[in-house]
Amino acid sequence: MTSSRQDTAALSMDGKSFAAIAALAKEEAGLVLPTGKMTMVQSRLRKRLLATGQPDYETYCQFVLSPAGSDERRYMISALTTNVSHFFRESHHFDILRDKVVPQLLAKARNGQKIRIWSAGCSSGQEPYSISMCLHAAAPELVSRDLLILGTDIDSAILEKAEAAQYSEQQISGIPDDMRRTFVEHDRSSGLYQVTPEIRRIVRFKELNLLRDWPMKGYFDAIFCRNVVIYFDAETQASLWPRFRQRIDRDGWIFLGHSERISDQALHLFEPNGMTAYRAAAQPSAIKKE
Ligand SMILES: C[S@@+](CC[C@H](N)C(=O)[O-])C[C@H]1O[C@@H](n2cnc3c(N)ncnc32)[C@H](O)[C@@H]1O
Repeated sequence: MTSSRQDTAALSMDGKSFAAIAALAKEEAGLVLPTGKMTMVQSRLRKRLLATGQPDYETYCQFVLSPAGSDERRYMISALTTNVSHFFRESHHFDILRDKVVPQLLAKARNGQKIRIWSAGCSSGQEPYSISMCLHAAAPELVSRDLLILGTDIDSAILEKAEAAQYSEQQISGIPDDMRRTFVEHDRSSGLYQVTPEIRRIVRFKELNLLRDWPMKGYFDAIFCRNVVIYFDAETQASLWPRFRQRIDRDGWIFLGHSERISDQALHLFEPNGMTAYRAAAQPSAIKKE
């Protein structure tokens, strides 16, 4: 065998290793990896083989499952998550935010109450920064009040990018022109574009696995959890709806991605209100606030 053919053979994933990795991804992060994703998994984990010095997927698999591989499990999950995001993705949600949610938030803020918004599965930050830009443009009064946007993600590497808030010209192209002129600065040395300090000031990032405990205290006025649960199976999704409901304040909102829906069994907790937008139903007796 030529050396390149040997390399290819060594770096092919066998069914047993794939099954073990898929089981671990499900257990650790809720990610569902059907057999059809084997090539994708193989290519995404190739850099992890190189980084850990493992000669093939079988030994990588043994390593990641061993006690010594506990740190590597986080890198593995980071490599397996899909982080695609855009500014003002699914723009109809930002119309709802401006037209329906902002008036509610203003009334609450004028009443001295704090405003909290959660971008759950925020990836590289475009979602929480879009929320911040929308609020700055629609209600400058609101952003001087007690207002915070929390961005969380399981992937610490992507959160570093979110914190840096630097994007390419192509990435910022989804920001409406007037907001792009006001809320983005060109950094000549890197050639990148950075979200301005005023937009970043009200955004905080934290690492959080949605499958584990949520340490945040208090309730959210709106939760954006878009294009995240699509990677989970129905059982994992069903376990999340009541947990989100518990975290949403009276009259609060939850926004999902375009191909995601609150399951029928949980529809008593939320009322559909626009495309993949829901409002918390009046406190159902089954859901107790902690
Ligand atoms: C496709 S991105 C969506 C980003 C953004 N919400 C949007 O719609 O543009 C999905 C994000 O969910 C995160 N994610 C996947 N599983 C997760 C989990 N169990 N807990 C928290 N975040 C998770 C991924 O790391 C990834 O950044």
